[in-house]
Amino acid sequence: MNPVLVTAVAHEPQRWTLTGDRVAWVRPLEPGDAGAEQRFFNGLSLDSRHQRFHFGLRELSPALLQLLTDVDQRLHRAWVVEAESPGRPVVADARFVCDPEQPEVAEFALAVADDWQGRGLGRRLMAHLVHQARRQQLHGLFGDVLAENRRMLVLMREFGARLQSHADGPQLVRAVLDLGG
Ligand SMILES: CC(C)(COP(=O)(O)OP(=O)(O)OC[C@H]1O[C@@H](n2cnc3c(N)ncnc32)[C@H](O)[C@@H]1OP(=O)(O)O)[C@@H](O)C(=O)NCCC(=O)NCCS
Repeated sequence: MNPVLVTAVAHEPQRWTLTGDRVAWVRPLEPGDAGAEQRFFNGLSLDSRHQRFHFGLRELSPALLQLLTDVDQRLHRAWVVEAESPGRPVVADARFVCDPEQPEVAEFALAVADDWQGRGLGRRLMAHLVHQARRQQLHGLFGDVLAENRRMLVLMREFGARLQSHADGPQLVRAVLDLGG
C-alpha cells in the first residue's frame, strides 16, 4: 500500500523521565501551538539555531513559523515536548516531512532547548521519529546535519544511519536511516 494512504495515527501524550529527574511530555503539534513554537525557537541559542536551520537565524520569520506549524500530521508530522512545569513551555520539537513525489521517504529534523540538552531527550525523540515512521510504513528517513555537529552525528551513528557526503558541499552530511519498509 502507498505509505501516504496509511492514515497517520494520533497518539496520546507520553510522559518521559529524563536524566536529572526532569519530566517532559511529548505530544503531536497542534494548530494552537504557534506562539509556544515561536518562543521555543527564538529561545534557542544562536548556535543551536544554526545547527537546526544551517544558517544564522536571529529569529523566526512569520513565513518560517507558518511552515513549521502548518502541519497536516500526514505528509508532515510534528511533535512537541513540553516541560512538566508551570506554563508547560515547549522544550523540544521533532518532525519529518514526506516528499509528495516520493512519500515513502521523509526528511527529519529535531531541536532540544539548550538547557535540556545532554539529558537523553534527543535520543528519545530520534527513537520516537523512527518508531512513528515505521508505523507509517516509510522506507527511510534522512536528515541534513552540519559536519561540525558532533553530537548529532554521534547520535545518528548510534541509530545505524549511513553518513553520506552532501551535494551542497562538505559543510553538510546527509544521515540516511533505512527502515526496511
Ligand atoms: C543534537 C541534539 C538534538 C541532541 O539532543 P540531546 O538531548 O542533547 O542529546 P542526548 O542527551 O539524547 O544525547 C545523545 C548522545 O549525543 C552525544 N552527546 C551528548 N552530549 C554531547 C556533547 N556535549 N558532545 C558530544 N556528544 C554528545 C552522546 O553520544 C549522547 O549519548 P550519551 O548520553 O550516552 O552520552 C541537541 O543537542 C540539539 O537540539 N542541538 C541543536 C539543534 C540540532 O543540532 N539539531 C539537529 C539537526 S537535524
